[in-house]
Amino acid sequence: MAIQPIRLFGDPVLRTPAVEVVDFDAELRKLVQDLTDTMLDAPGAGLAAPQLGVGLRVFTYHVDGELGHLVNPQLTLSEDEQDGEEGCLSIPGLTWDCKRALSVVAHGFDMHGEPVVIEGSETLARAIQHETDHLDGVLFVDRLDQATRKAAMKAIRESDWFGAPDNLTVKLSPHPTRGLGI
Ligand code: NI
Repeated sequence: MAIQPIRLFGDPVLRTPAVEVVDFDAELRKLVQDLTDTMLDAPGAGLAAPQLGVGLRVFTYHVDGELGHLVNPQLTLSEDEQDGEEGCLSIPGLTWDCKRALSVVAHGFDMHGEPVVIEGSETLARAIQHETDHLDGVLFVDRLDQATRKAAMKAIRESDWFGAPDNLTVKLSPHPTRGLGI
C-alpha cells in the first residue's frame, strides 16, 4: 500500500497539462499502484496522476466494482449527453451537477504498454471524461454554467481546506463526497 496525499484545488499541478507516457517501466507501475491505493482509500471513483503531483497522462478508475487504469487516453464521445452530480477528490466535500457525454470509447495503453480500449456509459463515462480532463489541467468546475461556476468558486474559497498552509497533508474526512469524488 502506498497511499499518497491528494493535491487540492489551488495547487498549480492541477492546472498543468500532463505529458504522454513514453517509458512503460517499473516507475509507471508504481504510479498506477499508488493511484489505485489512494483512490480506493479516499474512496473515489477515479484518480489522475496530477492529483498526486505527477505530470503524466495516467488515471485509475473504480466504477460499479470495475477497477482499472488507462495510460495516454484518447477519447471518442457520444453526442448524447447526461447531466448529474459530480465531485472531485481535489475539491473535497463539494458536488455540482455537470453535463457530460453519455458514453465514451477510450483508447490507450495499460501499464505494460499493451493497447486497450475501454467502453463506458453513465458513471464510467463520466469518470473517464473527468480524469482525462485532469490530464489536460481542466477541472470539472470549469464545465459548469456561469452562475453555478460562480457559486462553486465561492464555496471552494469558503472551504476550510482551501488555502490552508498544510493542505497537501489534510486527511480527508471519510466519504467526503459520498463516493462521488473523482
Ligand atoms: Ni477529480
